[in-house]
Amino acid sequence: MPQTHLPPVVTIDGPSGAGKGTVTRAVVRALGWHFLDSGALYRLTALYCHRQGVSPDDADQAAALAAVLPAAFRLEDGAERVLLDGSDVTAELRSEAIGALASRVAALEPVRGALLERQRDFRQAPGLVADGRDMGTVVFPEAPVKIFLTATVEERARRRYNQLKGEGADVSLASLTEEIAERDRRDASRTTAPLKPAPDAVHLDTTDVAAADVIEQVLAQVREKLE
Ligand code: C5P
Repeated sequence: MPQTHLPPVVTIDGPSGAGKGTVTRAVVRALGWHFLDSGALYRLTALYCHRQGVSPDDADQAAALAAVLPAAFRLEDGAERVLLDGSDVTAELRSEAIGALASRVAALEPVRGALLERQRDFRQAPGLVADGRDMGTVVFPEAPVKIFLTATVEERARRRYNQLKGEGADVSLASLTEEIAERDRRDASRTTAPLKPAPDAVHLDTTDVAAADVIEQVLAQVREKLE
């Protein structure tokens, strides 16, 4: 089928803490489109490896698990729920430990290959908003609207710190800053699908910008490119 007959896609890429989750969910609500949280697929793969006793550095075994990931996404009373093998793993997936393991499995080329079609299957009418690192470069290179969100490492660490504190976690801002910087380095330096903006992406720096303004700028891009 020619690409033009496929439902439209808005890609929202960028490093951890740049505001992708907040912006993507708001854009999904405003447009009434489908949502792909690609990071959740890497986190699920990491958790599945952990549960099955597979090393997050064993490319072939991790890819074999990624290919058969028994995952499901549900919306219950407006809340997103992620299931692995039928059990609710939503909270566990968000932990720093799983985030760090996810960034290791995400560096393995066979794992990325195993998840590629699964991500493209989310492209359904009336449209898809896809959040990740390589949505605009690798998974949906022909997407009509591509956004690349950034913010300083310090600001991203501060946001994560406030979020975790709000959840009652005992965390230090200094160690979060170091972890985020380390994750950035790994995501940007890997050979397969490194974190980098697509040449045709619109860059938005969210450091000193209210979330509502960023969301409005993304929706303005959608109107400009798709109406
Ligand atoms: O976005 P989130 O923090 O949930 O992603 C977890 C990890 O998965 C990231 O640090 C990154 O290494 C990896 N990832 C990726 N490509 C994507 C989405 C996430 O490599 N499209």
